[in-house]
Amino acid sequence: MNDQFFDLLTGAWKTQLLIAATENHSLPPRIQRAQDQVYPKQVHSPNMVKQMKRMMEYWKELPLRGPIPKGSMKDYRIYMEAQEEKAQTSKESFLKQVDFDKVQRLLDVGGGTAPYLREIQKQHPQIHTTYMDIEDAAIIAKEKGLKGNVIAGDFRELDWGKEYDLILLSQVIHMYDDESVGKLFDKASEALTEKGRLVVVEHFIDPEDDAFNFLFDINMYLGTDGGKCRTRGEVADLASHRFTLERKFQIDERTGVLEFLSCSQIT
Ligand SMILES: C[S@@+](CC[C@H](N)C(=O)[O-])C[C@H]1O[C@@H](n2cnc3c(N)ncnc32)[C@H](O)[C@@H]1O
Repeated sequence: MNDQFFDLLTGAWKTQLLIAATENHSLPPRIQRAQDQVYPKQVHSPNMVKQMKRMMEYWKELPLRGPIPKGSMKDYRIYMEAQEEKAQTSKESFLKQVDFDKVQRLLDVGGGTAPYLREIQKQHPQIHTTYMDIEDAAIIAKEKGLKGNVIAGDFRELDWGKEYDLILLSQVIHMYDDESVGKLFDKASEALTEKGRLVVVEHFIDPEDDAFNFLFDINMYLGTDGGKCRTRGEVADLASHRFTLERKFQIDERTGVLEFLSCSQIT
């Protein structure tokens, strides 16, 4: 069997298990252990389950692909809470592995509920932070305790400002096609200081990653215009006219980080 097809089936199997585990409260121990490797028991993910169930309605349409109707505010909240749940397995590791020592100004683009930014604000209160997302997202993030500067609107149109030491793009670029991602990297490069860093958090589709990511890719295929999961190499290529890849590391089983420096720093 083709490897990628096998990964896809494994992802589908794990998603069904996630739903079964949440709804039935117990699974046979061996299956539960396999499941816990993907979604650790201590992380409760009821909204991720609801979100998956909604998306599975559209997976049935494969290989056809129709527009996904814009959900209600209730659906949007479920989507946002699912993002929040997802970040619980990685935010501690993210905060440990990224060096914030010399960061004075930080921008979080497409911050969502701001799971990483809120933690940064707690642990590094001296950093001047700016959050950017659509108005509905900003409302939910503020309810959860987001502080600092907030810019609401479409980040493709907005002025990002200048002189940031670190720009965070977490779980955002998979929603866009290559050309749009290139433009986001241009905007990031212009908004950073000469020594600034671009930090990309993503689901990458590399062999080392979990099969779950292939299901994620179906979501992008069905739900966005040209969005897709990428390998680390593909993301580095898209950034290469502006940035050089400095570091890569994992922050949980499915989530990787690429840290870029602007090309002008590498002489
Ligand atoms: C998958 S969520 C990631 C949220 C957060 N960064 C995280 O890692 O949990 C993607 C976020 O990007 C925002 N977003 C996508 N396209 C956007 C745009 N054009 N302008 C503003 N925000 C956008 C969405 O509203 C959503 O909150």
